[in-house]
Amino acid sequence: MFSYKTLQIPAIAVGIFLSLGSFSCQQANDVEIGLLADSAMVVSAHPIASQVGADIMRQGGNAIDAAIATQFALAVVYPDAGNIGGGGFMVIRLANGESATLDFREKAPLAASETMYLDANGEVIKDLSWLGHLASGVPGSVAGMVAAHERYGSLPWETLLAPAIRLARDGFLLTEKEAQKMNVQRDYFLKYSTNPPAFTAKTNWLTADTLRIPELAETLQRISDNQNAGFYQGETAELIIAEMKRGGGIITAEDLANYEAVWREPLIGNYRGYEIISMPPPSSGGIALLQLLQMTAAYPIQEMGFFSQETIHLMTEAERRVYADRAEYLGDADFVDVPVNDLLETSYNLGRMSDFDSQKATPSSAISAGTVLVESEQTTHFSIVDAAGNAVSCTTTLNGGFGSKVYVGGAGFLLNNEMDDFSIKPGAPNAYGLVGGAANSISPGKRMLSSMTPTILAKDGKLFMVVGTPGGSTIITSVYQTILNVIDHGMGMQAAVNAPRVHSQWLPDEIAFENGTLSQSLQNTLKNMGHSLKSRNGIGRVDAILVRPDGKLEGGADPRGDDTAKGY
Ligand code: GLY
Repeated sequence: MFSYKTLQIPAIAVGIFLSLGSFSCQQANDVEIGLLADSAMVVSAHPIASQVGADIMRQGGNAIDAAIATQFALAVVYPDAGNIGGGGFMVIRLANGESATLDFREKAPLAASETMYLDANGEVIKDLSWLGHLASGVPGSVAGMVAAHERYGSLPWETLLAPAIRLARDGFLLTEKEAQKMNVQRDYFLKYSTNPPAFTAKTNWLTADTLRIPELAETLQRISDNQNAGFYQGETAELIIAEMKRGGGIITAEDLANYEAVWREPLIGNYRGYEIISMPPPSSGGIALLQLLQMTAAYPIQEMGFFSQETIHLMTEAERRVYADRAEYLGDADFVDVPVNDLLETSYNLGRMSDFDSQKATPSSAISAGTVLVESEQTTHFSIVDAAGNAVSCTTTLNGGFGSKVYVGGAGFLLNNEMDDFSIKPGAPNAYGLVGGAANSISPGKRMLSSMTPTILAKDGKLFMVVGTPGGSTIITSVYQTILNVIDHGMGMQAAVNAPRVHSQWLPDEIAFENGTLSQSLQNTLKNMGHSLKSRNGIGRVDAILVRPDGKLEGGADPRGDDTAKGY
């Protein structure tokens, strides 16, 4: 059986990770202790973006400045999920204990309607919410960065844009993974973009090829010069609208001019004496994470053991119940009544576990009738701590890898396909054979439900951990397991990130596990308890920072991707 003890031995851990499909590029120098830094750190999906953020802090910028610079750098060097054509959430905790959450999630265009992805017979039109111009929500990332800078930034705005402009104009070297992904997506880019994207300049990208995106450099320069007006008005807005007209999309000048990022009240909970600060709706992440922690806090998880039959069974049973609630109750709280307080009542969550049987799986059909959503797993997360102890946890997305595959001609960036995160046909199976909830139905100006779970933990009034991940519906369970790995299983940050993960979400009624991580005997035991099991490639790409007892920062950069910690 896989145990945490074996994880602490690097050589064995390397063997385990090499056996995972998506970890095939892992190097022999995988480590169980991440980068240590005395002062400040950025952990993101790309080494160049992490370096940009760390450099901004060296120049005197704070964690929010670094987050803005990292976000814009990711929009250049990590185009599959880094973006200015998407949206996201940011959780901030200042060194003085003040916390804030920023919602820059995309919105449905004003011309959107509940039936826009259905044919005359009321059936879902395949791929319409996923690929092409109709799949995009109104982007929020630029407004989010402007709002973060207005409230908390300390360096000039132009300083934060300068590295991204340079990277887009002068070019950067592709990693092996990025080159492969661009080659795989080439036909989609050509099919769904009305102008050939920079990503199709070569037919076969190789590792260390230079990618330049001069049009993106010009767009970023306009944002640098004019902030929101450089994106939502003027030339960039005109290019987006022209792209929409050429491709039959519905985003208008009014949609762009009206977009606003929103500061929201953070969700704050407690787990074994740790304060958990996370994202409220339109993310489902914060509520679901706090529900999971409440449901399992009563159990001796440390004694039950890491990746043991008992712990996997307990987590799965809690996850079934939480994802059933998510499907039924969660949506954009600006449009629907989300019973946040009820869902976060300890008595409610203990009640949900009252029929938990430690020996037997509860069939998902017995939990509740309802709905569930499936999301793409391509999103990106970064965690940042500055020298003063301010922290940022930010998850941002185009939804699918490279979003809708629509490249805004003349502007050099991709648009999201976030409309697919709505229930495109409430109460009936969607394009993927699943059903969605009415609370998350499409409405003009509404934000689609998300699973993104940027989270910050504090202990005794001091920063403890910054954590988050991409991974669609697996985001919530990956963040949950990373927190358990540190608090209950006593792992350091890198070990907690490296550790294998499982995922369950009510429907489908199964436990997904990473290839090669569950022994046959453990699989048999779980099957005998009534669970269905399914192996798959890596789950999530957690990027996190832990404040160790000695005061040093330890980075956890997920070896499942190019993720990298940089700090000093
Ligand atoms: N598109 C992924 C999410 O928002 O959860």
